[in-house]
Amino acid sequence: MSKLQGKVALVTGASKGIGAAIAKALAAEGAAVVVGYSSSQSGAQAVVDDIESAGGRAVIAGGDVASASDASKLVQAAIDQFGRLDIVVNNSGVYAFAPLAEITAAEFHRQFDTNVLGMLLVTQAAARHLGKGASVINISSTITSLTPAATAVYTGSKGAVDAITSVLAKELAPQKIRVNTVRPGYTETEGTHSGGIVGSDMEKGMVAMTPLGRAGRPDDIARAVVFLASDDARWITGDHVNVAGGLQ
Ligand SMILES: NC(=O)c1ccc[n+]([C@@H]2O[C@H](COP(=O)([O-])OP(=O)(O)OC[C@H]3O[C@@H](n4cnc5c(N)ncnc54)[C@H](OP(=O)(O)O)[C@@H]3O)[C@@H](O)[C@H]2O)c1
Repeated sequence: MSKLQGKVALVTGASKGIGAAIAKALAAEGAAVVVGYSSSQSGAQAVVDDIESAGGRAVIAGGDVASASDASKLVQAAIDQFGRLDIVVNNSGVYAFAPLAEITAAEFHRQFDTNVLGMLLVTQAAARHLGKGASVINISSTITSLTPAATAVYTGSKGAVDAITSVLAKELAPQKIRVNTVRPGYTETEGTHSGGIVGSDMEKGMVAMTPLGRAGRPDDIARAVVFLASDDARWITGDHVNVAGGLQ
């Protein structure tokens, strides 16, 4: 039997990149999936179309995770469309890198609002509906242990994701809700293309440091998320799983 049959999942930022692969992988294991997006409705719809073509169930839901009312709407979409919520993947994220001298308050708030506040607001709204056996998976990054120069804002935001995950794992444990992070290494996505990382010295450096010797693929990350969402990971909470070809 499929590992996630009968479960309902919300994946934020699933219109492209790692989130799209996670939505498809959860659906392939039997979960009904809410495919969250912010600006790319057509991208989210294409993910739903792929899932439905493969025999799965999915709907799109739009909203800015950094808005409390939008975060509630994303969660409500799962309840309205599928009647329950069991799996939350806080994947929405933005990244840009700059040395200390070039950090601006606006860029700090852009990254922390989406990466940290968004994760908190979606989890807060979801926790009202999650029950025994539910799983929250926050997409962090191996950057929190690599701590490269000129990444203070992004690394700081993902460090906050790691710390908050450890706190919420304890806070939600009495309800038997598990909370973990997946920390991808460098992974080629629409975001790394549009951010100018693909083909850059930064990309070459990350691949050179990766023992398995290549960039990650979104589906590499999705498989670890499926595991953490499933009952196979029933004894794992408050943990941080590097999925990075050995990069750490
Ligand atoms: N790629 C990597 O090398 C790498 C490595 C480690 C960790 N990560 C993390 O993995 C996650 C996905 O990264 P990616 O490379 O797949 O990114 P991506 O291709 O740029 O996709 C980002 C997704 O986040 C959504 N999003 C952005 N801001 C949002 C907001 N305010 N509210 C709701 N959704 C929002 C986007 O939605 P729309 O397109 O609809 O606007 C999109 O679906 C991020 O958390 C990132 O930090 C990535």
